[in-house]
Amino acid sequence: MPTPHAPEPWPLPELQRLLPGVHLQARDEVDSTNTRLIDAARGGLAQPTLLVAALQTQGRGRSGRSWHSERGQSLMFSFARRLAPADWSGLSLAVGVALAEAVEPLAAAAAPRLQLKWPNDLWLADGPAAWRKAGGILIETTGSADVRTCVVGVGLNVRPRADHTDLSSGYACLQELDAALDAPSLLLRVAPALAAALQRFERDGLAPFAAGWAARDLLHGRRVVTSGVQAHEGVADGVDAQGAMRLQTARGLVAVHSGEVSVRPSVAAVRGAHAASGAEA
Ligand code: BTN
Repeated sequence: MPTPHAPEPWPLPELQRLLPGVHLQARDEVDSTNTRLIDAARGGLAQPTLLVAALQTQGRGRSGRSWHSERGQSLMFSFARRLAPADWSGLSLAVGVALAEAVEPLAAAAAPRLQLKWPNDLWLADGPAAWRKAGGILIETTGSADVRTCVVGVGLNVRPRADHTDLSSGYACLQELDAALDAPSLLLRVAPALAAALQRFERDGLAPFAAGWAARDLLHGRRVVTSGVQAHEGVADGVDAQGAMRLQTARGLVAVHSGEVSVRPSVAAVRGAHAASGAEA
């Protein structure tokens, strides 16, 4: 017989006040909150919906990877809403900026420890060349050209994890920034910020998030290699107006677009760095 688990104390009434009109759902266990909401969207889901789960049995990451977390270790939720921006490019960067700022506001940190690794991973910096992954974002869309629903899946490590030697990206948790954080309090902080960011992105695109990205751009000025349809090596030089990573290469400036590539700091860039920083995009 499975062990019964105390339900997470999700702050649903408080969240509902902050997110009027959003349908809030909390589940103890699902396969993947993204899968649930994408399926619901394909079935005609029209109301903005947030689904949070204490455990995922088939959590998914970007590029077909799986995303695993033990019960209570991470905040795992997805937010679905119809979105009609003039230009979709850069959405994942805007979401990353919104989450990072909600967790670690810039005013409180001149040099933010929570940084963004293009296109939208959250990493905790231990020093100038040492980082560990603290969270990731998986954005999926479905629908027609006129009416698209986007599902933004967020996985943020909250508590320390004893064994993370299997992770090439290392393991950081947000309690390293704020020991009082737990998954429910983190949800209350980041979900309204995410909803507001989607609204802002729909209206104004990536531009309002550009400065926030630049302040936390983990790869800026670093030598990186990309893998994908076309491999490039060069020095990362911020992002362009579409959110593509600008790469100064021996053959000139290359714009690397989201979804086409994964990025790894090259051996030269990370020589002597923390062993856990062998980054996974
Ligand atoms: C990545 O780092 O590759 C993205 C990880 C995204 C994980 C979250 S957890 C909630 C939501 N449901 C999923 O199956 N994936 C996302």
